[in-house]
Amino acid sequence: MRTEKEPKMQYIEDHFVRLGSQREKILKAILEVDKDGIQISGSEGQLIKVLARMIGAQKMVEIGTLLGFSTTWLLEAAGPQGRVWSFEKMSEHHRIASEILKAEIEEQRLSLHLGDALEQLPKIEHEGPFDLIFIDANKAAYMEYFHWAHKNLRPGGLLIADNTFLFGMVYQEEAPTNHAKAAKVMKEFNKTLGEHPDYDAILIPTSEGMTIGLKKYATSN
Ligand code: DHB
Ligand code: MG
Repeated sequence: MRTEKEPKMQYIEDHFVRLGSQREKILKAILEVDKDGIQISGSEGQLIKVLARMIGAQKMVEIGTLLGFSTTWLLEAAGPQGRVWSFEKMSEHHRIASEILKAEIEEQRLSLHLGDALEQLPKIEHEGPFDLIFIDANKAAYMEYFHWAHKNLRPGGLLIADNTFLFGMVYQEEAPTNHAKAAKVMKEFNKTLGEHPDYDAILIPTSEGMTIGLKKYATSN
């Protein structure tokens, strides 16, 4: 959960983050649905945007739209020729995101899909391989998202995953029983990326932890 910002994080937000009216609208809507704490911060959005631009990402997949805040940073990185496919399980969130990002959908720069990503993702495989895949959905499904991403990411592509500290549970021996499955999966997710011969990976210590894996050009598969 993202709560009060530490002074150093506030400093970064103040100096490197430009929101604009569309993101302000999403920030207002996120308070109305009471999901403020589960949305990425502006500085995390800016980080994702910079990373996406560094690899010239044009085709991007997002697993977990929420209200579209993270989506806006991907769209900005993609530019007018790029495309983003984003997946959201909650119909109310999908509806609000579709409303706020209506122009991008009409311009065919964005496709918002409603439903469980693991069921929906096969439908866009023919659009791939993708340059960037951002994972920010069901924490217990991160390994399954990884397997899909690994198959559908181009060589040199970037995998980014939010919440990879799993609220501190990945570096604790025993996770609370109600999070046992997600903790086990997240530990395996980080271990897999950290050891994978096909990725240069690192966990960036944002407040929630953001693991990134840059797929190598010459891979083992
Ligand atoms: C929470 C935070 C997230 O960033 C997320 O994607 C899901 C849940 C949380 O704090 O519960
Ligand atoms: Mg998250």
